[in-house]
Amino acid sequence: MMRPGELGEILVSREEIREMTRRVAAAISRDYEGREVLLVGVLKGACVFMADLIRELTVVTQIDFIAVSSYGKETKSSGVVRILKDLDEDITGRHVIIVEDIIDSGLTWSKLRELLLTRGPASLALCTAFDKPSRRTVANLTVDYTGLEIPDAFIVGYGLDYQGYYRELPEVRTLRLEAR
Ligand code: IMP
Ligand code: MG
Repeated sequence: MMRPGELGEILVSREEIREMTRRVAAAISRDYEGREVLLVGVLKGACVFMADLIRELTVVTQIDFIAVSSYGKETKSSGVVRILKDLDEDITGRHVIIVEDIIDSGLTWSKLRELLLTRGPASLALCTAFDKPSRRTVANLTVDYTGLEIPDAFIVGYGLDYQGYYRELPEVRTLRLEAR
């Protein structure tokens, strides 16, 4: 449930977000110059970042979306990522960039990566708006494009939610632990 007063301070402002999306888009545009990319947003969290990113890219782009089950404590043992909504596009032979809202333990991405590699993309890269490297449990996980590194705090806004709420906030805020 959403409670009054649980929203904390602004951690990333609109200005910082704008600068971050431009920087990431410039890096991708440079690296993929002359190639066509397929950006795959991981629903639902990545939708806002995805929308900002594609409007800053200068490479030829198509987009698609995928939805996977999130790893709560109770699903930790399942070992495979469960697809709730699969891609519409065939990624065989294509340059694919996965767009995530945030990388935390790294479990979701490592499982999704394994699965997508079986489909034979020409290349597969990871782009995330936010990263919490201090929370990583998966070893040797490569993040190709990172917007901003975040300290170990639960954040909401800019697509990120707490129990489905706050995705619409234009800036990133912390959630107050004492109110949760
Ligand atoms: P991982 O598998 O632990 O890397 O989890 C990544 C997913 O957990 C993200 O796609 C988010 O849905 C969720 N997540 C992790 N940290 C946060 C946060 O601080 N706020 C909101 N969602 C988060
Ligand atoms: Mg998510």
